[in-house]
Amino acid sequence: MAAADQIKSLIKSFGQSDDARFFSTALQIAATEAQQGHTTFAQELKKLIDEAKNGRSLNQIEKKAIQINLPKRELQELIEVFQPKISLKDMVLDNSIKLKLNSVIKEQEKWQLLKAHNLEPKRKLLLTGAPGTGKTMTAQAIAGELGIAVYIIRLDGLMSKFLGESIAKLRLIFDAMNDHRAVYLFDEFDSIGSHRNQHQDIGEIKRVLNSFLINIEKDKSNSIIIAATNLPESLDKALFRRFDEILEYPLPDKEHIIEIIKKNTKAFSFSTKVNYKELSEIANGLNYSEIVRICEETIKEMILNGADKLEIKTLKSLLKSRNIVNG
Ligand SMILES: Nc1ncnc2c1ncn2[C@@H]1O[C@H](COP(=O)(O)OP(=O)(O)O)[C@@H](O)[C@H]1O
Ligand SMILES: [Mg+2]
Repeated sequence: MAAADQIKSLIKSFGQSDDARFFSTALQIAATEAQQGHTTFAQELKKLIDEAKNGRSLNQIEKKAIQINLPKRELQELIEVFQPKISLKDMVLDNSIKLKLNSVIKEQEKWQLLKAHNLEPKRKLLLTGAPGTGKTMTAQAIAGELGIAVYIIRLDGLMSKFLGESIAKLRLIFDAMNDHRAVYLFDEFDSIGSHRNQHQDIGEIKRVLNSFLINIEKDKSNSIIIAATNLPESLDKALFRRFDEILEYPLPDKEHIIEIIKKNTKAFSFSTKVNYKELSEIANGLNYSEIVRICEETIKEMILNGADKLEIKTLKSLLKSRNIVNG
């Protein structure tokens, strides 16, 4: 049985919303039980505590935000938090990228084992490539695979909204990484990673970039840090060696175009036989995002026309006109 003062401390910390004290007392109780030979009960407690911690972590970041007087609405524009349900299987990826991502996930699934052997699991990734090739989606898929939350941080917003305070805000985000194991995606990374920036205050950008470099270097958390950029050539070379893995996302080739079309129309059938090779030629040059959206448009057309089969000519003409718009 837990000691009287442990129970009192639990109730007090609950009343004061002191999560840290609550969890440390609960762990003490588990430890006491284990010492008394009640190992099953101690393990059950430990599991309950872990689950409760996960459940609380999203609340916590919101609280932190309030503590630093960041208006909630503004924070929501800059940092999006959620628990993705997608996995890597939902993506169409180059083989080399797939291999690297699978290796990251494998190491992350066993991160405690690696740490116990003084080994660092890979967890700092730089994703580069054209828009609509799956960089943001990758961060979500990794979080989905690991069953943890993803924080999507809009750096361009951080830079423009909090000019002069961006470093302090950045520090806050890196602090959160220690408290909440999650995937942290620094999206639109070029807004600080670039040395050719049109921003007015170049000095501020340099300071933020430096602070990012120091933070990422010093970071010893168990979180996964991902930076994504459409403009790798404009990145400062000093950045590259801070990452464990650099992944380059290409536009889909013809096989991948066929795969993404099949994936996104698989719940339906076409009214006529599909020449996928022809489709892949028409769609050549489009990114994944554009192709996915065109598949959705084709499905919508079918529904609005009261039909029950997809029209290949709708899909073809949408792909063609998109490619013309793109030039
Ligand atoms: N490799 C991919 N596999 C499957 N779907 C993709 C892929 N890349 C992009 N998409 C689709 O396009 C949308 C936008 O992609 P996103 O990850 O935001 O691209 P990026 O961050 O590279 O600009 C995704 O939500 C998804 O529907
Ligand atoms: Mg993106």
